[in-house]
Amino acid sequence: EIKKGQPTNAKTEEMQPNREVSDGEFMSANQGVRINNDQDSLKAGERGASLLEDFLLREKITHFDHERIPERVVHARGSGAHGIFKVYKSLAHLTKADFLQDAELETPVFVRFSTVAGSRGSTDLARDVRGFAVKFYTRQGNFDLVGNNMPIFFIQDALKFPDLVHAVKPEPDNEIPQAASAHDTFWDFISLMPESAHMIMWLMSDRAIPRSYRMMEGFGVHTFRFINERGESNFVKFHWKPLLGVHSVAWDEAQNISGKDPDFHRRDLWDAIESGAFPEWELGIQVVPEADEHRFAFDLLDPTKIIPEELVPVQRVGKLTLNRNPDNFFAETEQAAFHVGHVVPGIDFTNDPLLQGRLFSYTDTQLIRLGGPNFQEIPINRPLAQVHNNQRDGYMRQMINQGKSSYNPNSLGGGYPAQAPAAEGGFTSYPERIDGRKIRARSKSFFDHFSQARLFYHSQSEPERNHMIDAFSFELGKVKTIEVRKRMIAILSQIDQSLAAAVAYALSLSIPKDTGQPLNHSIPADADPNEYQPIQA
Ligand code: HEM
Repeated sequence: EIKKGQPTNAKTEEMQPNREVSDGEFMSANQGVRINNDQDSLKAGERGASLLEDFLLREKITHFDHERIPERVVHARGSGAHGIFKVYKSLAHLTKADFLQDAELETPVFVRFSTVAGSRGSTDLARDVRGFAVKFYTRQGNFDLVGNNMPIFFIQDALKFPDLVHAVKPEPDNEIPQAASAHDTFWDFISLMPESAHMIMWLMSDRAIPRSYRMMEGFGVHTFRFINERGESNFVKFHWKPLLGVHSVAWDEAQNISGKDPDFHRRDLWDAIESGAFPEWELGIQVVPEADEHRFAFDLLDPTKIIPEELVPVQRVGKLTLNRNPDNFFAETEQAAFHVGHVVPGIDFTNDPLLQGRLFSYTDTQLIRLGGPNFQEIPINRPLAQVHNNQRDGYMRQMINQGKSSYNPNSLGGGYPAQAPAAEGGFTSYPERIDGRKIRARSKSFFDHFSQARLFYHSQSEPERNHMIDAFSFELGKVKTIEVRKRMIAILSQIDQSLAAAVAYALSLSIPKDTGQPLNHSIPADADPNEYQPIQA
C-alpha cells in the first residue's frame, strides 16, 4: 500500500513481500490456524486455573516476552526515513562508483538520525552530537555514509572509544545523569584528553542543539578516498548541506521542549514528510589530490581536524531527498544496520586510526544487537544488488541456497559463484604503499589540538560565543570535582584566553598561570594555505 503523497522507490518496492496488512483479515496464530477467541485463556471451568494446553496463550505471551532487543550501544535514540539520491553530473573523473556517474539515476536511500549518548527513550533535545547515517542501495551493493552533524570527533584513535563512551554514559553506580555531558566522569575524561578540545567546542556550541534534523549539516568526518576507472586516488571529505539552512534552538528552548515534547525532532521529521514537505540535503565533497597529502598544517588522517573550506571549497555534487516515512519503526529504523565498512568500488578507506577501528566495530556490535550472522537479510538491510557467496547457515537464515557445494576453489560446480573481475564490479582495495614499523604510537602531525578549536571559536558570532560561555559554565558548574573544573579552564586557556576568563569567572576560579609549557604540540605549516589550489569536481 502506497502512503499518500509519499513516493516509492526500488528499495521500498523490493520490501513489499515482507509487508503485512491486517485490515479485513481473520486473526491467526503463527502457524496459520485461525483464532476464534483472543481474549479468554483456556481454563478449567469459568473460574478455574489456566491450562498448559493453551497454545494460543503460550504463543502470544512467549512472543511478547521476547519483543525487546538491545538498544544500540551508542546512538540508541533515533529516527529514520526513506528517500532518494541523485548526483548532479557525472563524477567519473573522480570515482567509478556507479551511483555517482549518471544524473538520471535515482538511488534509493534509508537515513537514520540519532543522538549519541542517551538511551532509546531519551529526549531529542539533549546537548549532544547527532548521528547522520545514510544507506545508499546502489546497483553495486550498499554504500553507507555513517556520519555525524559535526565534522570532527573527540578522539584520534578507536582504541579510546570505549573509554569515551564509558565516560559520557550515565555513571555506573547510580545511572545518573541522562544528560550527555553534565557530569564528572565526562569532564574528567575530556580534561585529560587535549585532543578532544576541538570537538568539545562544537559540543558546547549551538550545533549541539539543532532545531530539527531537517536543519542539520552532516559530515563523513574521516578522509576517504575516491578511486576512478584509471585507478587514480583522490582524498575526499563528505558533507551534507541542508537546503533549509542550519538552525539551532537556544538552551532554554531546548530545556522547555525536552519537558513538553521529548519526541520533538522525531515528530518534526515525521510530520514534515507526512505533509509532503520533503527535507533535502546537497551532498558536498572536498577533494584533495594524493600529491597534496602533506601540504596542510594538520594531518588528513586526523579525525579531530576539518579541512577549512577556505582552503578546499565544498563542491555540491548531488541531492538527497527524504520522501517516505517507514511503515514500521522496529522493522526498519531499529533494525537498520549501518556500517562505515559498507563501500562500493570507487570509494575506499584511509589509514585514519579512528576509521580503521570503526571498520571492525559495527558488524561486531550488530552481531549481538541483531542476534547473529544473518542480519544482512533483514529487509531494510538487504541490498538491491544480488548476493551470492559461500557463507551458509546460522541463526534465522532466510536464504535457501541451492546446489551441493559452498566452497572455493571448486571443480564440482553446482551452486558455486565466480569471483568478479574489477571490470565486472569486483571490489579491489586501493594498493596504497605502506612501509613502516609495527608500533603503538601517534604521528607528531596529530599533536596540534588547539589551533582548530580556536579557529572554530573565532568563527562564531558574539551571541554564539556567549552561548558557548554559558554552556561551558552550566556544564562545568555541574561537575563536583574542583580539580576537573580547573583542568578544563587550563584547556580553555590554550584555546582562547577570553573564553577561559569568562568561564573561570562564572565558576569562581582563576586562570592558571602560563607555565610556558603549553599542552599544545603544534607543528609548523609546511605549505602556504593561500597558494593551495583545490581540484575541480
Ligand atoms: C553507531 C557515527 C565513531 C562504534 C553509530 C551511528 C552513527 C555513528 C551515525 C548510528 C548508526 C545508526 O543510525 O544505526 C560515528 C561517527 C564516528 C563514530 C561519525 C566518528 C567519526 C565510532 C567509533 C566506534 C563506533 C570509533 C568504535 C570503535 C559504533 C557502534 C554503533 C555506532 C558500536 C552502534 C551500531 C549499531 O548498533 O548498529 N556511529 N561513529 N563509532 N558506532 Fe559510531
